Amino acid sequence: MTNSMGDADISQLEFLKRVQDRSLTVGVVGLGYVGLPLVRTFVASGFRTMGFDVDPSKVERLLAGDSYIGHIPSSWIADCVADGKFIPTPDMARLSEADALLICVPTPLTAENEPDLSFIRSTGQQIAKTLRAGQLVVLESTTYPGTTRDVLLPILESSGRTVGRDFFLAYSPEREDPGNREFETARIPKVVGGIDDTSLRLAQELYHSAVERVVPVSSCEAAEACKMLENTYRAVNIALVNELKVIFDRMKIDVWEVIDAAATKPFGFQPFYPGPGLGGHCLPIDPFYLSWIARRHGAESRFIELAGKINTGMPRYVADRLEAALLESGKTLAGSRICILGIAYKRDVDDPRESPSFELIDILRGRGAEISYNDPHIPRLPQMRRHDVPPLMSTPLTAEYLSHMDCVLIVTDHSSYDYDFIARHAPIIVDTRNATRAVVCKHARIYRA
Ligand SMILES: NC(=O)c1ccc[n+]([C@@H]2O[C@H](COP(=O)([O-])OP(=O)(O)OC[C@H]3O[C@@H](n4cnc5c(N)ncnc54)[C@H](O)[C@@H]3O)[C@@H](O)[C@H]2O)c1
Repeated sequence: MTNSMGDADISQLEFLKRVQDRSLTVGVVGLGYVGLPLVRTFVASGFRTMGFDVDPSKVERLLAGDSYIGHIPSSWIADCVADGKFIPTPDMARLSEADALLICVPTPLTAENEPDLSFIRSTGQQIAKTLRAGQLVVLESTTYPGTTRDVLLPILESSGRTVGRDFFLAYSPEREDPGNREFETARIPKVVGGIDDTSLRLAQELYHSAVERVVPVSSCEAAEACKMLENTYRAVNIALVNELKVIFDRMKIDVWEVIDAAATKPFGFQPFYPGPGLGGHCLPIDPFYLSWIARRHGAESRFIELAGKINTGMPRYVADRLEAALLESGKTLAGSRICILGIAYKRDVDDPRESPSFELIDILRGRGAEISYNDPHIPRLPQMRRHDVPPLMSTPLTAEYLSHMDCVLIVTDHSSYDYDFIARHAPIIVDTRNATRAVVCKHARIYRA
């Protein structure tokens, strides 16, 4: 039996057989920081994997064997595109060619800080146009509990197909940790919830063939809530240590020393570290998804809101500390030359999304400072929706440049930085990451913030 696109419909048993003998075609929709590593995982497990993206420039780069994500080598892309193991395409009419479609599109916030599900909706509409019998659709994008059933399912069923009979639907949160070499996608346990038992079984078998461990839960909502718990847990605990940093600093106690000492407790304590504020696509955004859905259920999310308040106040705290550090050397912030070290939201990645460095640039420029920056992963400052970003290029970290600065502000502790060299030439360092803990050269005045 074939559908209107000429693609063969497959039964559940046939789906499982194809997973086993690797003749199943996987399709990943959204080839960003999450989707591309996921493609890699399925290709590595022996599946022909299609990659769909609405951004034609990404697809062109992939077809040319050129990676745009630091930890995915271009040579790997060139090889598996040439072998036909990875088929990148912007052509959504080809969505019907994949037996399983894994959705990894963005889930940002609207201008009102509410969930923006427009990417999930448009992907659902694209899939609905070509949906064929036997296809499994799995949403991986981070979102609030209820999205798969209440938002995606009706769009897919608008095709006239019925879930559990004609096609299958599950949710499995992505837990990618960019830059973490210890835990690549295949090594991170995959939580899966299905709309029904068959959907769960198919999704479980598919992931089981590519990742080390699959953790089934009773529903899509439980899987969606699991991701919300994980990220809220991090956001709240980071807020706690950020608040302790401010308190301990007043008491002249080094919060990083305290955390390291507490982390020697072999049970009941997990270390979290303070910083300049939250960044990345997840932690600054996901708690808003949860508090939004909580409100719709008439519930309050006080912890989340307090954590958000503390974390978003961190850039201002850092800027105040920097201003005080300059004053101790008889300088004012207005007119001072400040080097921002690290723009990416975390160590060793090239992702600037929601990075607190942009907020810091806004605040420091607003107080009259002259800003320049260095980030080996970000050669030029990108434009950001919520910030007025100056058109700057990364300045090489030479002795002349550093000694010409009034202060170096460490926002992101990339491992390629030579902190001894920096401390030998910069007059003042404000360190938000405890990156200078092992520095022996004491030329620079170093302040933790
Ligand atoms: N980046 C992370 O570390 C991380 C970790 C865990 C979960 N997540 C979640 O995973 C999801 C994806 O995040 P990301 O960081 O990979 O985003 P990203 O912006 O890097 O990539 C998303 C890709 O989807 C494409 N896209 C948008 N609409 C599309 C459509 N209709 N059809 C096909 N492609 C489309 C975009 O062009 C882009 O290339 C988000 O929900 C995010 O919260 C991200």
